[in-house]
Amino acid sequence: MKTASAPGKIILFGEHAVVYGRPALAVPVTQVRAVAQVMDAPAPGIWIDAPDIALHGELTALPPGHALRTVIESVFRTLGVSAPPPMRVRVTSSIPVASGLGSGAAVSVALIRALSAFLGQMLSDEQVNALAYEAEKLHHGTPSGIDNTVITFGRPVYFVRGQPIEPFRAARPFPLVIADTGIPAPTRESVGDVRRLWEAEPARWEAVFDAIGSIVRAARQAIERGEIPALGPLMDENHALLRELTVSSPELDRLAQAARTAGALGAKLSGGGRGGNLIALVPPERAEAVEAALRLAGAKRTILTTIQENP
Ligand code: PMV
Repeated sequence: MKTASAPGKIILFGEHAVVYGRPALAVPVTQVRAVAQVMDAPAPGIWIDAPDIALHGELTALPPGHALRTVIESVFRTLGVSAPPPMRVRVTSSIPVASGLGSGAAVSVALIRALSAFLGQMLSDEQVNALAYEAEKLHHGTPSGIDNTVITFGRPVYFVRGQPIEPFRAARPFPLVIADTGIPAPTRESVGDVRRLWEAEPARWEAVFDAIGSIVRAARQAIERGEIPALGPLMDENHALLRELTVSSPELDRLAQAARTAGALGAKLSGGGRGGNLIALVPPERAEAVEAALRLAGAKRTILTTIQENP
C-alpha cells in the first residue's frame, strides 16, 4: 500500500489581485491534511472510496470531468499507463471543504503522489504541481495556481502567476487564528464578479490591485525581518480593499471586528471570500480570548496555527 498526505493552506495576503498578476503570500496549514492510500484490489477496476463525500464506486462510473476521475486519469496519462492494475483508492481529509483552506488541491496532491508511488514512478514536485493545477481548473474556473503551489511544496510561498515559485522564510514563527464562517466560499462566483467589475472599470480596479500588491510586498518584508506586529495593520488594509472589491460579507466583517476587539493585531478574510475563513494575527497571550470571541461572534470552528520558519 502507498500513502501520501498533503496539508491545507491559507492565503495570508493578496487573494484576487493575484489573478491579475500581483503577488500573494500563502502558507501551509499542517493541522489539517488530506490523505490518499492506494492498494491492490482483488477485482479488476479502480475502486474509489471517499467517505467524506460519500463516494464509493468504480472510476468509470464517475461522470467525466469529476475531479477525482480527472486527477487519476491524468496521472495514468502522464505516466503512460494504458492498462492500470486493479487498485483501491481511499481518500480522506480533515480539511473543511469550500472554506479557503485548499481542500481540493490537497486531495489532488495527496492522490497524485500516492498513485504515482503505487505505480512505481515518482513524479517531480513540478509535475505534481502541474497536474494538481489542471484539477484546480475544475474547481475554480481560472485559478491563479496559488493553492496547488503552496500545497505541493508545503512551505510558505511568494507567488506571482506564471513565474517560478519563490519560497520565503519567516524570521520567527507567529500565531494566527483561522475562523470559519461556516458559509461555503463561492470562489468561482467571487472571482467572476471581480472580473466583471474590472472589465467595466479597469483603471479603478487596477489601482486597487496595485495597492494590494504593495501590501503583499510590505508583508513579505515584515515576515522576513521578524517584524510581526507590522502585519496587523497590513491585514486590516488588505481586508478593507477586499471589501471594496465586494468579496467580503457581513459575517466576515463581523468576525474581523470581533477579533480586533478581543485583542487581535489585525484581521482579514482569506481566499475567495463571501464566506470561508477569516484570519487574525494574535499576540500569543491573546490567542485563546480571540478564538472565544470569534466563536461567540458566529465562527463555526477556529484553528490556532503557527506560521513556522522554513525547515
Ligand atoms: O478560495 P481559495 O482559498 O481557494 O482562494 C482563491 C484565491 C483567489 O485569489 C480568489 C483565486 C485564485 O485562483 O487565486
